[in-house]
Amino acid sequence: MKNKVSGYFLLAVAALFLTLLSAGAQQTAPKPPFDLIQWNGGKLVYGVDYYPEHWDESQWEKDATMMQAAGINFVRLGEFAWVKMEPAEGRFDFAWLDRALKVLNAHGIKAALGTPTASPPAWLMAKFPDIAAMDENGVRYRYGSRRNYCLHSANFIAATRRIVTALAEHYKNHPGVIGWQIDNELGDPYCYDAVCQAAFQKWCRAKYPTLEALNQAWGTIFWGHTYLAWSEIPLPWNTHYNLHNPSLALDYHRFFSDGSRDYLKLQADILRAATPDKPITHNEMGMFDRVDYSQMNTAIDFVSFDNYPMFNKDYASYFQAGLALDLMRGSKVNQNFLIMEQEAGLPGNLSFFARQVSADLYRVWAYQALAHGADGVCYFRWRTSRYGSEQYWQGILDQDSYPTTRYQTVARMGKEMAQVGAALRGTKVASSVGLLVSPDSRWAFHIQPLVKNFDYDRQLRLYYAAFRRTRMSVDVLFPSSDFSAYKIIVAPSLFVVDKALAAKLTAFVQNGGTLLLSYRSGVKDEHNVVTSQTLPGPFLDLVGAAIHEYDPQIEQEQTVVGPGYSRFSAQVWFDILEPTSAQVLATYGKGHYAGKAAATLNPYGKGTVIYVGTESPSPVFYERLAARAAQAANLKLGETLPEGVELAVRENGAKRTILLMNYTESTHEILLDQDYQDALTGKTEPKKVALGPFEVKVLTNPR
Ligand code: GAL
Repeated sequence: MKNKVSGYFLLAVAALFLTLLSAGAQQTAPKPPFDLIQWNGGKLVYGVDYYPEHWDESQWEKDATMMQAAGINFVRLGEFAWVKMEPAEGRFDFAWLDRALKVLNAHGIKAALGTPTASPPAWLMAKFPDIAAMDENGVRYRYGSRRNYCLHSANFIAATRRIVTALAEHYKNHPGVIGWQIDNELGDPYCYDAVCQAAFQKWCRAKYPTLEALNQAWGTIFWGHTYLAWSEIPLPWNTHYNLHNPSLALDYHRFFSDGSRDYLKLQADILRAATPDKPITHNEMGMFDRVDYSQMNTAIDFVSFDNYPMFNKDYASYFQAGLALDLMRGSKVNQNFLIMEQEAGLPGNLSFFARQVSADLYRVWAYQALAHGADGVCYFRWRTSRYGSEQYWQGILDQDSYPTTRYQTVARMGKEMAQVGAALRGTKVASSVGLLVSPDSRWAFHIQPLVKNFDYDRQLRLYYAAFRRTRMSVDVLFPSSDFSAYKIIVAPSLFVVDKALAAKLTAFVQNGGTLLLSYRSGVKDEHNVVTSQTLPGPFLDLVGAAIHEYDPQIEQEQTVVGPGYSRFSAQVWFDILEPTSAQVLATYGKGHYAGKAAATLNPYGKGTVIYVGTESPSPVFYERLAARAAQAANLKLGETLPEGVELAVRENGAKRTILLMNYTESTHEILLDQDYQDALTGKTEPKKVALGPFEVKVLTNPR
């Protein structure tokens, strides 16, 4: 009997436990990723950024007709039109926008509306001068541009609430408005006024348990900068010689980034409450570094990216553009995203920034975005402005509305969108290689640039390109990402490392992962303070080599030599590695440390760590390193692609869609593993593919 009772009791406890567990599981079940294609009625978003307020109303119908003819099914409207929406405090006028929406909707074009806060009206800033941000010399920005406000100004926040609430209330039941874009490219400017100083002090109080803890963490005893009251904490404004405490400066970057995130959330909360059925996005800037995008996007449904590949100085810089796209995807846990502004013509403002390219190349760039996980493309802008500071920033049409070759190419792609939609739907980029981007390290390098020609982003690009050239997909990871699905993690110049990140990477290697680190990794703790451990600090055991000496490249030339490496020129920085357990992959070729280790490989746990103590301008150097990492990780790299050709894969189980992009004017041949079906021509594509000038292929596996 006793046994039976205790048996029932145990069963009851187990049942309760299971119920609690499943309730917990329900609460924490991840939200399914937002389906952009379903959102747009089953079609890929194909849109334009349109400013009806810049044009005479008589033009709208003609515009909508031309858009529809080009296959446009989406517009973004209104993100700078605050003064038209609220011409005087608390007086709203949406009639003009209602009329524009009516015209567009009648042509089958739906809209996402921008909240207009990126450009506060003159009347608002005249009434509340404190809305204008203050530069580091204590001078307030004058009226006349945009993104000129202080994120912490109470007057600005009140005005934001008012306009966003009015907009949401007005459009909450409008069937032609299918979503929201918040503000525009948050992240400017840094503000150094008293309100921000007080907000920063509050932020510090929330972060550090005591003032002593802050003093300790920042090492304020240096130059006797110890603070005895929270109110004494300054902002990193201009000081004598412009040298500020780097720990304070890093926290200021985090504070500013958090402020942008909070401002985004403030608007998202208002929109969500009024229009729970209309998804929310924000248009972001890829490699832009004033905000930490990995912390930015929890309040929004999907990420949007403003994609201007031709900003990249090199026309063939498709890796640079690809990395930005992958970073945007990574900023919301690899969820597919939208291109809210896709370059449609020449960029420029005071003057043109680049030379004109074939309209076909703009099309290739748009396909590249889809290839990296965008589920839609919206071009910036419909027509080049006649007014204002962007008269040199080309849209699809020019001021005369002539159907340019750019328009014709957009229309061609408009037709193709229907063909490629099915091939892309439900697919995503899947990668075994992760590139770790550390916003803290990036900020720390800005605060104290290592050496004149050091560039953290270039480090990222060099490794990224090596894997992409050999057909590997790459996910961008952040310190907060889940590392468990990856075989290789590349973490170039991982400068600022906290205990949690060091432990995560150690566990990754222990469990069989391959970690590739490069020079200046593990140098600083999370407070931007140099470690007292022997370099590479928390990675010393993992790397199996110590760094007691290093040499910044100031003008001298260096080379690295190694088995299979031949001789490569080396630059920027030279860590002189002293292996304890690691094997030497390459040595330095010149000077007083010739013959000393420049790159090492160390087996650790079930995994491997490669450390590269320098940088080379040669892509082949990185291809060799990628091959070595792949060998350690048991991964097969593909055949190296011709220069100017990109291959990207989107997949879902057995469904596999390969996108091939040719950014050059020449024809290239690419060998695939099998024959595929070409979604654009409907024909079977033999496995040896000829890719003509600026040609794109969207290939699916035959089912
Ligand atoms: C983007 C911005 C647009 C437009 C465009 C071209 O960064 O969001 O509003 O200015 O650049 O300059």
